[in-house]
Amino acid sequence: MSSGRALSEVRILPATAELLSEIHAVEESCFSSPWTRKMLEAELTGNPFAHFLVAMSHERSTVRAESTILGYHCFWIVFEELRLMNLAVRTSMRRQGIGRALVTEACRLGMEQSATRAVLEVRASNEPARFLYTHMGFIQVGRRPHYYTNPSEDALLMELNPLVCPGTRQTERVRRSGGESILPDSL
Ligand SMILES: CC(C)(COP(=O)(O)OP(=O)(O)OC[C@H]1O[C@@H](n2cnc3c(N)ncnc32)[C@H](O)[C@@H]1OP(=O)(O)O)[C@@H](O)C(=O)NCCC(=O)NCCS
Repeated sequence: MSSGRALSEVRILPATAELLSEIHAVEESCFSSPWTRKMLEAELTGNPFAHFLVAMSHERSTVRAESTILGYHCFWIVFEELRLMNLAVRTSMRRQGIGRALVTEACRLGMEQSATRAVLEVRASNEPARFLYTHMGFIQVGRRPHYYTNPSEDALLMELNPLVCPGTRQTERVRRSGGESILPDSL
């Protein structure tokens, strides 16, 4: 485990519009070309394919305007395809399994809704994200030159096909309780 305060428990919950400002602040701190507040809001409230999850500490697991999110994940389930759209974990909370838990829950929901593969794009230089996805079974299946701006950079297209729920095979860290995913102490 790297830096950051001790993690007691982390819950994965559906995001609500009240968390938009906090999500936006984390987004701006994590990306050189962050999604705008309007883009985030559109995914949270106006896109029928979009799902938006937040990771929250156990003590603050009730989604309230003043609660603190540790990370979030926006993904689409479009018929047979799970598309991972946006994933971020607060800098101080990284390398504690939160990113993996957010992706695992997306895979679980995708499978529940009959998705058969998962796809994503990632900046070629983004080693933490590439390692995370590779760790979870994704493989590189293509490259999109100059896909990103600020700075201009290629995207790697990665795929998990067939879609599996990596967390259940790889680790018992994610438990289920009352419709929520929980990461227990032993991260
Ligand atoms: C990518 C990101 C979401 C990972 O979140 P995280 O909570 O730190 O990841 P996890 O702790 O779940 O890591 C799971 C595995 O991924 C790999 N991994 C994650 N970060 C890594 C790093 N910095 N270096 C090497 N491997 C890493 C490891 O295999 C790790 O398992 P381990 O800790 O048991 O070795 C986080 O670094 C982040 O928010 N980055 C900025 C935003 C971003 O790039 N989002 C992705 C856009 S495609």
